[in-house]
Amino acid sequence: MSSMYTKPHLVLPKIPHLDQIDVYVAHGGYEQMRKALRMAPDDVINEVKKSGLRGRGGAGFPTGLKWSFMPKGEMIKYLAVNGDESEPASFKDRQIFEYNPHQLIEGILIAGYAMGATVAYLYIRGEYHKWIRLMEKALSDAYARGFVGEKMKQTFNTNFSMDIYIHKGAGAYICGEETALMSSLEGDRAYPRVKPPFPAQRGLWGKPTTINNVETLAHVPAILALGADNYATIGAPGHVGTILYGISGHVKKPGVYEAETGTLLTDLIYQDIYAGGVRGDKKVKAVIPGGSSMPVLRGDEIDGVKMDEEFLKTIGTHIGTGGIVVMDEDTDIVKVTLRIAHFYHHESCGQCTPCREGCGWMEKMLKRIHSGDATVRDLDTLLSVASNIEGNTICALGDAAAWPVKAFLTKFRDEFEARVKPSRTFVPVNVVHGVRHQAQKFELVL
Ligand SMILES: Cc1cc2nc3c(=O)[nH]c(=O)nc-3n(C[C@H](O)[C@H](O)[C@H](O)COP(=O)(O)O)c2cc1C
Ligand code: SF4
Repeated sequence: MSSMYTKPHLVLPKIPHLDQIDVYVAHGGYEQMRKALRMAPDDVINEVKKSGLRGRGGAGFPTGLKWSFMPKGEMIKYLAVNGDESEPASFKDRQIFEYNPHQLIEGILIAGYAMGATVAYLYIRGEYHKWIRLMEKALSDAYARGFVGEKMKQTFNTNFSMDIYIHKGAGAYICGEETALMSSLEGDRAYPRVKPPFPAQRGLWGKPTTINNVETLAHVPAILALGADNYATIGAPGHVGTILYGISGHVKKPGVYEAETGTLLTDLIYQDIYAGGVRGDKKVKAVIPGGSSMPVLRGDEIDGVKMDEEFLKTIGTHIGTGGIVVMDEDTDIVKVTLRIAHFYHHESCGQCTPCREGCGWMEKMLKRIHSGDATVRDLDTLLSVASNIEGNTICALGDAAAWPVKAFLTKFRDEFEARVKPSRTFVPVNVVHGVRHQAQKFELVL
């Protein structure tokens, strides 16, 4: 038996056929669950706290701390595993489903034991048919081998057992928001809920629940195998470990690359072991560092940028899901902003006015800007609408919609200004009892 973890390949070790249970077990798979069971549950939580692991679902919340919020003692508690992965430019969790599903299952079991949760729901994006099938196969193999469910009591000689259910997502980005995910699991429309109460206080069916991302949980067996102290030395201080960076856009080799946190953005874009440079060796105009909702960087801002949350925060953006989008010098920035705004408008659940109305308003204005029918004043209105959505909604989809618009507009103001007119000629239309009356054409100077 050999340890499978050599940095930076902690979540996707470079072992052929690791998705097969025999191969996973032959490399020490499910041994970390055995190790966890020899520890007290709180010690497992402390180990994860000490490792410094932060959530990989977007917000970067410290994982051990989140687990410690769960109430202690015998009661029904749940773990919800977030595999909805519907943000544009995020496509890394599916790599785990495909290439290392048992490490995810083992991470779920360890998390369940640490928090006293005996049931886990693995919520996978509904459109991920292939990956749902692969996870179902891996889970049924794990059940058959006695690593999951009632039989694990004998396998691991323990009183603890856990059941894991795979749930197909309801086909909307909002289903990935943790409280919406709970509503969806309960069979309702995926409406986010106001917090507090937080899920650890009142989660699925009113019971204490923790929600973790797929990649977050896949790190847990590696932490136990390496030891928290060792794990904490990997990557950038303050945001340790490795990340599955999904690199897309105008690069030569788009794909998912596991690298340490704090890796230089330019290395990820240009090095041959990663994306291998920009197609046609063109210049970079813009880079989104962490999924479509994260504020963009201009091409002239990317030198020296380290890909970890603490560094990115200092330059006004975030690591998000680690989905990097590279845009070359020929990119139409206005069109990109419009496309992103269209997505968020389409995905707004409509509960809060600033998000429901604001996202539609932003998209409308961007359409006008894109078609050359807007004025300079529209740019300021657009910025003001985005600013009024931000921070004023039930869930973070509002922020996710506002941030990219604000960042693109601020950083590429010249490109937006080149598309608008100083004033607009328009024809006000009165609709009276269904009859359209056209008023006299006049020039409005703004
Ligand atoms: C609109 C929206 C969509 C989200 N989608 C996902 C998702 O698909 N997967 C995910 O892990 N987290 C997603 N999140 C973040 C979750 O709400 C939550 O923070 C995360 O699952 C917690 O896991 P972690 O602590 O392991 O990162 C989303 C958040 C928002 C606001
Ligand atoms: S912010 Fe948007 S998506 Fe989130 S609850 Fe409000 S309306 Fe729904």
